Amino acid sequence: MTRQEKLEFARCAAANGMVLLKNDNYALPIAKEKEVALFGISSYRCFRLGWGSGDMMAQTISQINVALKEAGYRLNADVETVCQQYVNALPDQRLMNRSWDEWTWRQDEIPVSEELIKAASDKSDIAVVTLGRNSGEAFDLKDEEGYFRLHSTEIELVKSISKSFKQTVLLLNTCGPLDLRSIDECKIDAILNVSLGGEMFGYAVADVISGKITPSGKLTTTWAYKYEDYPTKEGITTKEVPYNEGIYVGYRYFDTFNVEPRYPFGFGLSYTTFKQEVTDIRIDGQIVDIAVKVTNVGKYSGREVVQCYLSSPEVKLEKAYQDLCTYAKTDVLEPNESCELLLSFDLTEMASYDEERASFILEAGTYYIRIGNSSRNTSIACAVNLAREVVCDVVTNRLVPTKSLQLLSNKGINSYTYENEKNEKSNAKVFEFDCDSVETTVHNVIENDPPKLLVPKNDKHYTLKDVANGNATVEDVVAEFSNEELADILNGVIYEGSNANANVGSMAIKVRGAAGEMWSSEKYAIPVNACADGPAGVRLAIFTTPIDTDTELSRAVVAYPSGTCLANSWDLEAARRFGECVCADLELSDIEGWLAPGINIHRNPLNGRNFEYLSEDPIISGKIGAYITIGVQYNEEAEPTGRYTTVKHFACNNIEYERGVSDSQVSERALREIYLKGFKIAVEEGHPHAIMTAYNKINGTFASTNYDLLMGILRGEWDYEGIVMTDWNPCANPCEHVHACNDLIMPGRFRKNIIEGLESGVVKKEEAQLCAKRLLEHILKTNYVIMK
Ligand code: BGC
Repeated sequence: MTRQEKLEFARCAAANGMVLLKNDNYALPIAKEKEVALFGISSYRCFRLGWGSGDMMAQTISQINVALKEAGYRLNADVETVCQQYVNALPDQRLMNRSWDEWTWRQDEIPVSEELIKAASDKSDIAVVTLGRNSGEAFDLKDEEGYFRLHSTEIELVKSISKSFKQTVLLLNTCGPLDLRSIDECKIDAILNVSLGGEMFGYAVADVISGKITPSGKLTTTWAYKYEDYPTKEGITTKEVPYNEGIYVGYRYFDTFNVEPRYPFGFGLSYTTFKQEVTDIRIDGQIVDIAVKVTNVGKYSGREVVQCYLSSPEVKLEKAYQDLCTYAKTDVLEPNESCELLLSFDLTEMASYDEERASFILEAGTYYIRIGNSSRNTSIACAVNLAREVVCDVVTNRLVPTKSLQLLSNKGINSYTYENEKNEKSNAKVFEFDCDSVETTVHNVIENDPPKLLVPKNDKHYTLKDVANGNATVEDVVAEFSNEELADILNGVIYEGSNANANVGSMAIKVRGAAGEMWSSEKYAIPVNACADGPAGVRLAIFTTPIDTDTELSRAVVAYPSGTCLANSWDLEAARRFGECVCADLELSDIEGWLAPGINIHRNPLNGRNFEYLSEDPIISGKIGAYITIGVQYNEEAEPTGRYTTVKHFACNNIEYERGVSDSQVSERALREIYLKGFKIAVEEGHPHAIMTAYNKINGTFASTNYDLLMGILRGEWDYEGIVMTDWNPCANPCEHVHACNDLIMPGRFRKNIIEGLESGVVKKEEAQLCAKRLLEHILKTNYVIMK
């Protein structure tokens, strides 16, 4: 794949992830004949991504002003000069967020005189103003001016522009939702959430503004009017984080508790209009298939997302008003063109977790299936009746909170409803569900099967090459490992002289600028297995920049849009294609592993890393995570590429405050239905070769040393067979990782602790061998090209 092809993908993905939030008086798209007065720092120097390990050292960043001119627009010269001069005088570092010491959240907006605005509004047809907001690793936003709220300089700018111009378009170059109340009184005709779009950002904005691409993004996270509207508003700056909202995260809360969102989950406008009609519904065993005909009844070509939600009956367990169960997106439809989409889901996947019985159950009663194009714009397609309760999976309660939670309850609350809902319910066609089609799966308890100590069978020395050639087993090699060698393989190796604070995410030796690498050994013919961050591309940190020759530039990897932007496209095929692009960049950089995608739930809008993550909904996070993984790990012929994803951060790293030691106290039900569900889908549908654990604790135990999470659930219930690695420099006791089968401690500073642990018996040798075995199997899988 050429760099050009990857750039084209990045441009298209960024455009398809933009969400049109408002469009009055056909303000967008803007005709090319019009003169545009372009305001706002981000119009001239955008935030391409957030900072930290989720950033990319992009080599070229397209800016909105340049891209609009290249697209053929005239920009108001006076406004452009003032803004460009202001931006030129800003320190480069500050806006390029190259290093995390010099990050910035917002940019104090350019002071533009009333006279200039007045003169520009007399001359130009339309004003476009871009506001930027950024965030990143290890920090969270605050519910304050300049963070989650607009800054006074931003409010002033928008106020004066919208007062003077006939039409004003607002672009939000933002890491996530913002409180926009301060500009509610302003006459803004259109609002486009342009998100953090990677290095092709400017071109993508121009494509949408000009109508070359009709926006088709939908929000994967609710935008509230104000921070207090979120149910997760408390306890995010304490080391203990009580998840008191339980299952009521995001739209599940806003709908159930009838809180009006500013922009609901799943919402996004288009330049055109679509009609959705349910043409067929079939229920075959557990599988529900719904055919929906989508017709473009407007004037522009465009794409539409059909969303399917389920409202479940309440018997014993509380239920959210609705849960997303599946979705599908059309290709581009020309005006008057239609297509049929098939939406399928397995009803048992929507079962609720009953903590009392440690079981996923579908309670008896009537389930309503809703179809629409946003969580607040659906109609009932049919009802499904369950004559009796169905127990789908029986597991073990493994992650019980150690602190008492004040769980939110929907008792006595009237949920959101819409005018015709009652009518739709009484007229809905009812399907009888075949309860006998579901066989209860009882998950085995794995503790009964402890590993056995491996001892060398003979005096022969075996290498991994022997294993690759079929002359030995992995066990033969592992049996030979001394305590020191076991400690070597269980730890990454780091570039000498690197220091934990300065060089986070860039400690590999083989490829400078990559995040880390596994132990390699001539003695055992173990090749180097290196990994680099994500999630917005293959991150090669500062050592490899600047790249200044054309040849090097053409080799350079691409900065793709942020996770949230990609997810907002609701386009699974694009997610797979993104994975293919990443795979090509991994090949180019000679790196095997990719430390992404990040699929933590958007629990709270202030989380500094939300831009890396995908959604407040686990189905979206899990499916996109799976498709990206498939794109990275398999080629078009479904053959393994030898490259791999590392789905992270498992689990409940939902805020950055004290992330190394914070304790997420979560009910087992919310874990099972919300926070673990996306990982389960990614594991079962995408089969990633690696998982990265989170820094934080879950219910009192570090995620990275949590036996129940890693052995009980991940490997036991979900049959995960890949490796588990820690996040970089975890705070948990290093030796405890081994028992929990967190195979690899990254980036590799705990060799000494593991040797001591093995010698004292704190680390059981057979458990260390089991980790080593999995690591070697991983290398055979992912370095297989050179192993043959
Ligand atoms: C981040 C991870 C990242 C790792 C390596 C950590 O600080 O939390 O997401 O993959 O560094 O850069």
